[in-house]
Amino acid sequence: MTSSLATVAYLGAAILFILSLGGLSNPETSRRGNLYGVVGMALAVLATIVGPRVATAGIPWIIGALLIGGSVGLYAAKTVKMTQMPELVALMHSLVGLAACLVGFASYVDTSVQFQGAEKAIHEVEIYVGILIGAVTFSGSLIAFGKLNGKIGGKPLMLPARHWLNLAALLVVVWFGREFVNAHDVQSGMPPLIVMTAIALLFGVHMVMAIGGADMPVVVSMLNSYSGWAAAATGFMLSNDLLIVTGALVGSSGAILSYIMCSAMNRNFISVIAGGFGGGAPAAPKADGAAAEPQGEVVPVSATETAELLRDAKSVVIVPGYGMAVAQAQHTVNEITKTLRDRGVNVRFGIHPVAGRMPGHMNVLLAEARVPYDIVLEMDEINDDFPDTDVAIVIGANDIVNPAAQDDPSSPIAGMPVLEVWKAHTSIVMKRSMASGYAGVDNPLFYKENNRMLFGDAKKMLDEVLVALKA
Ligand code: TAP
Repeated sequence: MTSSLATVAYLGAAILFILSLGGLSNPETSRRGNLYGVVGMALAVLATIVGPRVATAGIPWIIGALLIGGSVGLYAAKTVKMTQMPELVALMHSLVGLAACLVGFASYVDTSVQFQGAEKAIHEVEIYVGILIGAVTFSGSLIAFGKLNGKIGGKPLMLPARHWLNLAALLVVVWFGREFVNAHDVQSGMPPLIVMTAIALLFGVHMVMAIGGADMPVVVSMLNSYSGWAAAATGFMLSNDLLIVTGALVGSSGAILSYIMCSAMNRNFISVIAGGFGGGAPAAPKADGAAAEPQGEVVPVSATETAELLRDAKSVVIVPGYGMAVAQAQHTVNEITKTLRDRGVNVRFGIHPVAGRMPGHMNVLLAEARVPYDIVLEMDEINDDFPDTDVAIVIGANDIVNPAAQDDPSSPIAGMPVLEVWKAHTSIVMKRSMASGYAGVDNPLFYKENNRMLFGDAKKMLDEVLVALKA
């Protein structure tokens, strides 16, 4: 393939990636968006393999690597459970970071391409920055993976003087960068590069360890953005235009997503990155020394009583959370929705921007179960309607309906906007126990006078509610 044909193929792939991002922004067009992405990536890989920069002797190696990588990817995609998707995504981000590091070291020791003067300096800066971003992405994503699958606790690690530590690390990295660019040969350039990589790896670990449970969504989208910038840096190192464009697309869309997440959580982006939010500052003790705990009585209900409350309601708002994903209860939720709507009940869904464990988690599940899009509303669209709602039913959600975010300034989730289900005439929370959610915070909603608790696995309890509704 000639170089100009490869460029045209790259341009086509870049356009397909942009169309893909556009498609993925809406559940109705997301399948098409996904298809554009697959076709774009196939085109990009093909144009690279048969393009002018790959020697024929290297093709069997590339095909071998593709077969191994493709098989692992296919196996992971086929076996991963929907609830494990965020961990898989974090693991994939870490691989992008690792690739950027390896490509950086390889292009530094590669003597087949010789740069001189300013070009040499620019190439070395590309390598240094590429490895820096790659290493932070790699270690940070691995820690995020551990936190998302529960192997690492959600409690933030608050090292003393952590901001000073970060600042010192930054200064050392800049100083070693100068040493690296001034080095005359690979032997003298390698030590500063290795020291910087070690610092960047530690920084990635420290940065994500310092984030509290409730702020993980911001970190996940931020690492998504970093992985894009790492890919773009790899593109600069390899002088590959498509990698630069694709990396920039992922990097900037991830940055926009992080911004949206921060607005949704009422967090300052810089403060979240620097660590310290979601830190679980203990609630102020009362005068008698007792810890500030939710007051009131918990009132359990049965599935039959829940069905009665729903049957008598004129308007119902369903708030799904992570537990609905765990229980895979979305299809029963759809059945109940249909049954209630057939009886003339106005049923709508309230979706919190960080419900579940990944952006759009609930929307994907509800779309899969074929819940009509027009009754699925965002938090801002539904929150004012709770006072006019007869029954708000919370399915496996916890942090996103926690009134402490509004009422308790000492709560780790203070200031985070939440769905105000307690303002409905009756709220019903469906979960297995009194356990806290991802942020590890008690929920005073469970003790409110107009709240009822339907204990049990969401799928099992909803099946019982459906049977009682149809009886
Ligand atoms: P959570 O606050 O984590 O609460 C989920 C609740 O579901 C748990 O309290 C659990 O209680 C219940 N549950 C689990 N399995 C269940 C089952 N089989 N049947 C019924 N209930 C079940 O979830 P949320 O309200 O959706 O809030 C999301 C949280 O995750 C936020 O803190 C958010 O910051 C964080 N987070 C979000 C993301 C993104 S991007 N969305 C990423 C990382 C972290 P029981 O154990 O008592 O059943």
